[in-house]
Amino acid sequence: MKVLNYGSLNVDYVYSVDHIIVGGETQHSSKLEVFSGGKGLNQSIALAKAGVPVYHAGIVGSDGDILLDACKEAGVNTKYIRRLPVKGGHTMIQVDKNAQNCILLFGGANQSLTEEYIDEVLEHFEAGDILLLQNEVNKLDYIIDRAYDRKLVVALNPSPYNEKIEVCDLSKISIFLLNEIEGAQITGLTEPDDILASMRKRFPEAKIVLTLGKDGARYSDKDCEYEQPIFPVKAVDTTAAGDTFTGYFLAGLIRGMEIPDILRMSAKASSIAVTRNGAVQSIPKREEVEAALSAD
Ligand code: RIB
Repeated sequence: MKVLNYGSLNVDYVYSVDHIIVGGETQHSSKLEVFSGGKGLNQSIALAKAGVPVYHAGIVGSDGDILLDACKEAGVNTKYIRRLPVKGGHTMIQVDKNAQNCILLFGGANQSLTEEYIDEVLEHFEAGDILLLQNEVNKLDYIIDRAYDRKLVVALNPSPYNEKIEVCDLSKISIFLLNEIEGAQITGLTEPDDILASMRKRFPEAKIVLTLGKDGARYSDKDCEYEQPIFPVKAVDTTAAGDTFTGYFLAGLIRGMEIPDILRMSAKASSIAVTRNGAVQSIPKREEVEAALSAD
């Protein structure tokens, strides 16, 4: 069984600020750092660091060397990544003194996927292989349809949520990994119990993971439900915390672990990620997560 992540790769420009800037305001930033990121890339790196071999597919622009290097360093297979002579995906991220962030995203090369490229990559994957997706590339609905036709198991992190999710046939998704905001956007409900109940009703066969920030995470499938509290830490930057959770959760499923153990491992991995700056580089390796879990 192979794992493919068809997703974004971004260069993150991270500005340290006193507070998140408001409309009309000019503020000095005390520090600028440049990191590898993108929801897609972060999740591939989390999968690889959690011990699962993963192929990443997506498009980088002319500034993409840093992103390909990050893949290689973490052991993510880059054979399906393409490069175009266009501006690559990038973000401007403000991180304030309370570790709160806000992200301005420019899709760039991530929005250049073609049906031909998607077909060409999916041809190398077959029934039972796993496909992970987020919503930072174009043609998401097409990828879902073609992957479903090929009987791949599709996992979706519908982030960031927008109208492009609404045109996707979500009944083709086997695993949803979403936070409470995306849960509310999909269901129109705000209480975690209600979000889960609505998702369960609409997608009875799916596995659903709902992350709730400081309130931990919930899991639900047709047979069972579990809850996982957070591991409290002093956060410095929450960027990629959700991506770390997603990658570790999927890795745990693929490795055949029990759900409560997967949730614990994923929560621990994210709790480590938030104590570090940046996206890709904040994601811990499996050995570090396991050592931290046994020290608890
Ligand atoms: O989820 C975090 C990621 O979202 C960042 O790395 C940034 O690139 C944005 O895509």
